[in-house]
Amino acid sequence: MAYKILCPSIMCADFGNFRAEITEMDAAGIDQYHMDIMDGEFVPNFALSWADFAAVRKMTSKPMDVHLMVKFPSVHLPYAFKNGADIIYVHYESGNAANYLYEIKANGRKAGLAINPETKIEEVKNLFPLIDTLLVMRVKPGFAGQAAVPEVEKKLDFLTNMPNRKFSIRLDGCVSPDVISKWSARGIEEFVCGTASEMFGKKRGLRSYKEIVEKLR
Ligand code: DX5
Ligand code: ZN
Repeated sequence: MAYKILCPSIMCADFGNFRAEITEMDAAGIDQYHMDIMDGEFVPNFALSWADFAAVRKMTSKPMDVHLMVKFPSVHLPYAFKNGADIIYVHYESGNAANYLYEIKANGRKAGLAINPETKIEEVKNLFPLIDTLLVMRVKPGFAGQAAVPEVEKKLDFLTNMPNRKFSIRLDGCVSPDVISKWSARGIEEFVCGTASEMFGKKRGLRSYKEIVEKLR
């Protein structure tokens, strides 16, 4: 079985208890932290702030990504560099993605491209040589707890059958334990774990992060 990169979505964690949350997740063997930053314009919501990012950065030595769901990535990139983001995702739909991807690489970080459920591979494939990871949204970005957009499955079929793929694929949104086993068996490497993964929210029940991580592995 291929190794799965499990990335808890910190916007789903207990905001009043970040230190305890991160300490327990680190010990449970999670791989990377997924940090959602929104501006209320690109998506109609707000999630983590750069102050939250900086606070979590001091609590862990694991890699941290940042998923920029913002209208103006140029405003946020300096914060991502300054605060030690290891992988930075810009949305294709924000525009000018190629410029941002070059800037991210020039600053020594991994470059990620995020795509909305309705965005077609045809539109973004010329950017593939510039990226380390493609973040495929299974839901409209902005909110946890949504149902998956069914059309995304076809896109994933196409991507997992691409010959000589040089970038990794990360799934974000409604990533359930079943989705993780199905797509990991078909070559997808990375998974953002929100409420659907059962790591957070009601479905977690009283289980520890260690139990959840063991189940998802
Ligand atoms: C949504 C965020 C996700 C979200 C996923 O815009 O990018 O990271 O937290 O969580 P669930 O599993 O609830 O869809
Ligand atoms: Zn995200």
